Amino acid sequence: MKKVLVITYSQSGQLDEIVENVISPLQGKAEIVYEKLKPVPPFPFPWKDISFWDAMPESVEMIPATLEPFKFDPGEKYDLIILGYPIWFLSPPIPLTTFLKSETARKVLNDKPVVTVIGARNMWVSAQEDIKKMIAEAGGKLKGNIVLHDRHNNLSSVVTIIYWMMTGKKERYLSVFPKPGISDEDIAGAVRFGNPILAALNNNNWDSLQEELLKLKAVEAYPSVISMERKAKRIFRVWSRFIRKKGGPGEKARETRLKMFKWYLLFVIFAVSPIATLVFYLTYPFFFLKIKRKMKYFKSVTLNQ
Ligand SMILES: Cc1cc2nc3c(=O)[nH]c(=O)nc-3n(C[C@H](O)[C@H](O)[C@H](O)COP(=O)(O)O)c2cc1C
Repeated sequence: MKKVLVITYSQSGQLDEIVENVISPLQGKAEIVYEKLKPVPPFPFPWKDISFWDAMPESVEMIPATLEPFKFDPGEKYDLIILGYPIWFLSPPIPLTTFLKSETARKVLNDKPVVTVIGARNMWVSAQEDIKKMIAEAGGKLKGNIVLHDRHNNLSSVVTIIYWMMTGKKERYLSVFPKPGISDEDIAGAVRFGNPILAALNNNNWDSLQEELLKLKAVEAYPSVISMERKAKRIFRVWSRFIRKKGGPGEKARETRLKMFKWYLLFVIFAVSPIATLVFYLTYPFFFLKIKRKMKYFKSVTLNQ
């Protein structure tokens, strides 16, 4: 029987539910080994105001933290590794960075096919580029990517995700806003991605997996959102360095800078991003071919050096 290692990090359980659905066609047909990453100390959920923003600098700079010892056996040979993760500040969440930068990841990923499963609000492209690099550095071969995201508009999903993250309640805020996160329908529909994964696993042929997944709409990319997040990620890097000059995670001395970042980000999201989106669409025809090329790349599993 083929062996599949499933490594995930999820706070609310949303991402775990998605991954469980993705791999359901593999149940009984492959041996599945689960590893849920557990940071030490754990990140709070629900988050308390400043702790949420405090996760930004190390997420963006991809600075590893500490994880509880792994339960799986890294000496085993796995036929496929599935990595499931949410996005933190346009970056990989710290627990996944910690795993991917570990010696264990090098051991277990080396020359092995990897499939990533993302459960995001709507901005995941920059994080996946970081993940592609870390998988390659660990010797893994990225063969598939599946992205589920919140389909509501950018501004309302910012309000609902903050409400969800700060209260732990995945329910409609003030009965006016939509339910936060990825819809139940999309989560249930993730079952369809398991069949091409199972076929690739059985045939040990991974070359056309991403093509097959894309036919099932495994990745939908929105040019205006991607354009915004690519610019934002560059600015986040400036902020993360500025904040880290005052110390590491939890350091009292960096609170003022974290608060500055918070108000900066909220201002940019609600005041600047609608204008930026308008400008993007006005200039869209001039950059059509370039944007089309970029969208194809972001949907792929290749890594531009
Ligand atoms: C600290 C933090 C930052 C986040 N930043 C982003 C982001 O930049 N882009 C995005 O699409 N989602 C972002 N999210 C939402 C997550 O991608 C994810 O949808 C949510 O945390 C639920 O995932 P879970 O399975 O861990 O509960 C963020 C969540 C947290 C907690």
